[in-house]
Amino acid sequence: MPKDKREILVTSALPYANGELHLGHMLEQIQTDIWVRYQKLIGNECTYVCADDAHGTPIMLRAEELGIDPESLISDVYENHLRDSKGFLIDHDNYHSTHSDENKYFSELIFERCKEKGYILEKEIDQLFDIEKQIFLSDRYVKGICPSCGAKDQYGDNCEVCGKTYLATDLIDPISTLSDTIPEVKKSLHLFFALSQLNNEAKSWFKSSKVQKQALNKLNEWIDDLRDWDISRDAPYFGFEIPNYPNKYFYVWLDAPIGYLASHKNFLSEDTEEFSKYWNEDTTTELYHFIGKDIIYFHALFFPALLLKANFRQPTGVFAHGFLTIDGEKMSKSKGTFILADTYLKHLDPQFIRYYFSTKLTEGIEDIDLNLEDFIQKTNSDLVGKYINLASRSSNFITKYFKGRLSEIDENHELLQLSNKAAEKIFIHYENREFSKATKEIMLLADKTNQYFDNNKPWEEIKKDNNSLLAHEVCSVTLLMFKNISIFLSPILPNIFKESQGFLNLKNLSWADLDLDLSGHTINEYSPLITRIEKESISRIIEDSKE
Ligand code: 2FM
Ligand code: ZN
Repeated sequence: MPKDKREILVTSALPYANGELHLGHMLEQIQTDIWVRYQKLIGNECTYVCADDAHGTPIMLRAEELGIDPESLISDVYENHLRDSKGFLIDHDNYHSTHSDENKYFSELIFERCKEKGYILEKEIDQLFDIEKQIFLSDRYVKGICPSCGAKDQYGDNCEVCGKTYLATDLIDPISTLSDTIPEVKKSLHLFFALSQLNNEAKSWFKSSKVQKQALNKLNEWIDDLRDWDISRDAPYFGFEIPNYPNKYFYVWLDAPIGYLASHKNFLSEDTEEFSKYWNEDTTTELYHFIGKDIIYFHALFFPALLLKANFRQPTGVFAHGFLTIDGEKMSKSKGTFILADTYLKHLDPQFIRYYFSTKLTEGIEDIDLNLEDFIQKTNSDLVGKYINLASRSSNFITKYFKGRLSEIDENHELLQLSNKAAEKIFIHYENREFSKATKEIMLLADKTNQYFDNNKPWEEIKKDNNSLLAHEVCSVTLLMFKNISIFLSPILPNIFKESQGFLNLKNLSWADLDLDLSGHTINEYSPLITRIEKESISRIIEDSKE
């Protein structure tokens, strides 16, 4: 029997615990949060978990630089990340850390299960070793001459000039960027996940799952050249030591996605039945990962393959988005466009950017541009000029001349019919993460309602007659439409939604309340729900973001 409610688990990518959140992170969390809020609004069961990605060499080195323990670094960063996400009204059901007991447990369990089935291979490999720092160097800490084109100052994995990929040990005249010394080549035993044996199984996952077209094209390119995946790193490393392999640690990218399970487990605490319901192989629940387009490989290949071999369910879909640009360019510290979440929040309401991002977000992986001029113009004109205007202009008459009470409203009113038709489209656009289409549809409805108000001129009718039936009806219909538009926008503007309900004297509105009749209903007095963005706020954000 089909379920009446979908049961959905949603994640966004785990931010690294070595720096502050910026608007790029917020783009992803906002996209995820809107989708989750929409699912809850229409009555589905939906859980949103995330965590800090707390392991790896950069975090270890950053802590060393600050003269503190990595544990203390990641706990400070955790507090900051949580504060910023809350500031942007991101409603995580749980925000955990990959440096947790649950994550250690699942990382070991998944590793052991894969090992039992013969999918963990031991291989001795050559690695560059920094003698002064006594550390094996990952690709980002080595520079040298490209073995292919001879370009200088290239990193250990690929050449930015000719685009070739290579091994760090192939670099000519390599130098450790940690100590400026010449590294030596040293052998080390590494553990590999046998991804190359999984071509067909990987293919069958991404053929049967929700993966965007552009991602699928990339996956099809990669699939024919799958290599075994190196999942271990040598000490010193900040992470989990691998059972029975002293001084070998799980590579951060192994335990990061496992952090999704860990955060969910932490959320459910002792409720093992609920956890199994979501993670067992035969589950009927859905699992979606919202990620940036740069980490499709990990989420659509490595992670599903690990889960498969460890007898857990695989993701239902992976939803990638593009990068954030500002005024058409990469975020830049010198131009003041590398905007931290915290800096934004000091000057502006998070709902403005939640709305602006929504007007740009599609289901695709194209980059999203935050054009600052357009941001001011569009948010002011849509939110203040079109949406909130409906409440402010009509409530005034209702309060002053009709004791706050709405008139009878014809359920076949033309505007209500439009709202019903729009609801069908908006519903589908949200589901498909076509937020830009959803907002367009919603604003069209606001336009039509404003036109209806303007055409009927209730301010003139009231002048002629204080009890004007027409004025009463026009203002009442406008407020009913305001209620519906507020429901449509609620995943994007959660605080305004709360306040609108207070003003409308209504509670716990959901999608089903689009049908709620307000004939004869009494509202509260209106007080401004939002004020315009001033240009100065943007200038201050840019000023504060400059290096
Ligand atoms: O790219 C990143 O920022 C990683 N910290 C994302 C990890 S997502 C997941 F796999 F944990
Ligand atoms: Zn080159």
